[in-house]
Amino acid sequence: MVHSPVLIDDAGAVRRITVNRPDKLNALNAHTIQALTEAFLAADADPAVRVVVLTGAGAKAFVAGADIAEMADLDAMAGRAFGLRGQTLMRTVETLSKPVIARINGFALGGGLELAMACHLRIAAETAKVGQPEINLGLIPGFGGTQRLLRLSSRAAALELCLLGAPITATRALALGLVNEVVPADELDARVDALTAQLANAAPLALRAILECIVHGGESALGEGLQYEAAQFGLMFATADMREGTAAFVGKRKPIFEGR
Ligand code: COA
Repeated sequence: MVHSPVLIDDAGAVRRITVNRPDKLNALNAHTIQALTEAFLAADADPAVRVVVLTGAGAKAFVAGADIAEMADLDAMAGRAFGLRGQTLMRTVETLSKPVIARINGFALGGGLELAMACHLRIAAETAKVGQPEINLGLIPGFGGTQRLLRLSSRAAALELCLLGAPITATRALALGLVNEVVPADELDARVDALTAQLANAAPLALRAILECIVHGGESALGEGLQYEAAQFGLMFATADMREGTAAFVGKRKPIFEGR
């Protein structure tokens, strides 16, 4: 059987994408980056998928970074191309029209933290460690880390993590706003399952509009972002889901959203 660097499983409307190189702590080589990009594009295009979970195979790592062995011999142009492929993957994840949850089950270092930061929600096991250790290799983050750390957390955290290169605990990552929740390792699946169940039952078109407002709108000036929000808000009044949600509230029953 051919070894696949990415595993894809569906449970109802939830698609789980697993980086599957546990013997290399799920390091991202070019092949894995390509397979992940294709997996996310396929999840986006599949109407049966309402929420995506991204995780790493094995107990030790989410993703321990870009593949150092593969990068070791690249020249400047190949390095730039590799960085751009990584950035394309992160942007594909970030701009997905469905919520993506990072299930951070262990090390999320370098490209691993960059990948987690591109997701919309991050749930980390207490045992996880995150960081941008590229400086220790004479490198810098190249898959968007300098920019997303700055935006997601703070200038102080971005400078600390990138300049010092030392991994931090999940608890510290929580304090910095880098992850949404930290849970005991043996409760990680239960928590991720609860969140995916909630999101899988939420109104898909409203979820998409929220993602677009926050991801795209958040990159523009406030006035433009507010205009964008107003347009998306108005658009919701054309959906059957909005009629269902408001009718269910008034009728004191649970809504059933169909993505129409
Ligand atoms: N790229 C390529 N291979 C990697 C890797 C990466 N980013 N991270 C881990 N691996 C490989 C190791 O080379 C090793 O392979 P081997 O068994 O063929 O020698 C295997 O994964 C297990 O890693 P190992 O270092 O033995 O595990 P550890 O528990 O001693 O240490 C880490 C775990 C995460 C601290 C350590 O692997 C590490 O520092 N990795 C690199 C992190 C990094 O710098 N990421 C940013 C890259 S730009």
